[in-house]
Amino acid sequence: MKKKVLLMGASGSGKTSMRSLIFSNNPASLTSRLGATIDVEQNHVRFLGDLILNLWDCGGQDSFMDSYLSTQRSTIFQHVGVLIYVFEIGARDTAKDAVYYRDCLDALQKYSPDAAVFLLVHKMDLVVGDKATVFERRTRELEAESGTVAVTVFGTSIYDETLYKAWSRIVHTIIPNAAVLSKHLTTFAQACSATEAILFERTTFLVIATSSPPDGPEGGLDLSPTRYERTSELIKALKHSYGMPEFTAVLDGMTKNTYILLIVHDPTIETAALKINIRLARPKFE
Ligand code: GTP
Repeated sequence: MKKKVLLMGASGSGKTSMRSLIFSNNPASLTSRLGATIDVEQNHVRFLGDLILNLWDCGGQDSFMDSYLSTQRSTIFQHVGVLIYVFEIGARDTAKDAVYYRDCLDALQKYSPDAAVFLLVHKMDLVVGDKATVFERRTRELEAESGTVAVTVFGTSIYDETLYKAWSRIVHTIIPNAAVLSKHLTTFAQACSATEAILFERTTFLVIATSSPPDGPEGGLDLSPTRYERTSELIKALKHSYGMPEFTAVLDGMTKNTYILLIVHDPTIETAALKINIRLARPKFE
């Protein structure tokens, strides 16, 4: 099954940057070297077995936008599962942004009326002052510009976990059996006496599903509402630091005052063996 995802927005709003962070494991610091996208760059990302995400990163320069909305209109806007439209929070020409956005929505309504629409108010790290107020105001403007089309708005930045939150939510809507996955995860978490279980996609480390929030005595735990996206961000950073796409990490208490983080690249080494070794080594470190 293939899902077409359109990534659109003005030139320089940050589309290719977010794509390279999420899908190519690049650090935020390297995004300033990215050139403008020429026309459309297509990527295929395999998600969960047979689900393929077909991502269209549409270069945002005016000449390209004009062409998407005229000669390429039906090619671009047909069979779309999700439209992600990126608005830079500090953009100077918001009036022009609004005109292009409206035109894109009109085309989407015609060719893919069932597509989900996500709006990213991006580069939120650049906002000085009260981010929440600025975000709320922009959200209201964008909802008004969207007319009768239902939209979901997120504030994002490549420099913190907000990008992972938005993309995890987007991906979650694409996965056909997300509810079944959550149900199985809940059963699994209960069987393990775990507080919760979270399923991440392998390459992007986006959250695909989570077990139901814990109730009972654990329900009283002070769980951070941003814990999922912060975990995605952290593990991506860890993967990048070790320069390997796959590894096993074991974090365990070592002595009364220390924790040990073991990173293993050899896939034949069992986690349980590492845990036993840690336990046996403890007296040496006490
Ligand atoms: P086109 O390809 O021309 O459509 O542009 P684009 O939307 O793909 O923009 P691109 O990703 O190339 O980003 C433009 C610049 O914005 C780069 O220098 C990025 O480093 C910067 N940028 C992207 N995201 C953020 C962000 O969240 N915060 C800040 N401060 N800068 C960002």
